[in-house]
Amino acid sequence: METNGENIFDGASNKLFQDLKNEEVKEFLVNNYQGKSFGQEREEEVYRYIVNNSVFFASMAAQHGSSVITEFLYEGIEPRSVFDEYALSSKAGRAIKARLLAMEKELPKIIDEYRAKGNVLIANLGSGPGRDMIDVLAEKYKDASDIKVVSIDKDMTALRRGKRMAEIRKVGHLIDFVQASFTRYEPKEKFDILILVGVLCPLKTEVCIELLRTVRNLLKPGGCLIASNVAKPMLQEDPFACYIMNFVADWKFVYKDENELKSIFEKSGFNWKRSFSDEFGFHIMGIGTV
Ligand SMILES: C[S@@+](CC[C@H](N)C(=O)[O-])C[C@H]1O[C@@H](n2cnc3c(N)ncnc32)[C@H](O)[C@@H]1O
Repeated sequence: METNGENIFDGASNKLFQDLKNEEVKEFLVNNYQGKSFGQEREEEVYRYIVNNSVFFASMAAQHGSSVITEFLYEGIEPRSVFDEYALSSKAGRAIKARLLAMEKELPKIIDEYRAKGNVLIANLGSGPGRDMIDVLAEKYKDASDIKVVSIDKDMTALRRGKRMAEIRKVGHLIDFVQASFTRYEPKEKFDILILVGVLCPLKTEVCIELLRTVRNLLKPGGCLIASNVAKPMLQEDPFACYIMNFVADWKFVYKDENELKSIFEKSGFNWKRSFSDEFGFHIMGIGTV
């Protein structure tokens, strides 16, 4: 799609506009993205069209910050419309799956480090179904008797799905699923490793600092936190995906670079260790210890 002779859209969004048959929706998206206002009636028509025609965007609009969205991106969906195809093929969408893969590559290294010292107790905070730990346990630690995971989420539906997934993968005995807010959770025993993925992204720096200060109390001395945040390249390299998430579902992220995440860790009392990212560089995962 060319505007003023300049191609401002990437492959995935160009394909969306090629395949999208509704010319009015297309015209709205191309121009509204570039700042043009259309009035509330037209905006409402486009919103209705998108949520009526996309499982992905309807779910996004229905439940803010839900793991249903991330699960679609991890597993794929039978695309029902050009919008679903777009969500799955956009760089921002593929980067979510890449984040999962990056986590699953790093987690065993961290677990093995703690395992060398004794039993390992892991809390997956805001776990959704907890696919990352289910995959890692099923892949590497099915027969372990020294690793236990507690998946904590407010969303009972996600936890019930996680329990099913874990049992199917024969690691149900290694994971407890707990419905709670992790900010209020009082464990009997403190944890060696905390995982916090997909939670900080929409939060301002000060709120992240408060949140990390709170979860810090869940860790044993020497324990570590792995926490993810969306990084600035997502906004720079896939601005149309950021626009459409905001338009349909009011999803606004606070993109942070490595130094900002490091400073959040340090201001909340963690010793910054290192970071890693997904293959697109769209998410940074920080690691800090207490
Ligand atoms: C975007 S999903 C990410 C799920 C999973 N961590 C992943 O990487 O796919 C965010 C999850 O955090 C959960 N969540 C957010 N704040 C929470 C809180 N204070 N206590 C428990 N769960 C929370 C939501 O219910 C949701 O399931």
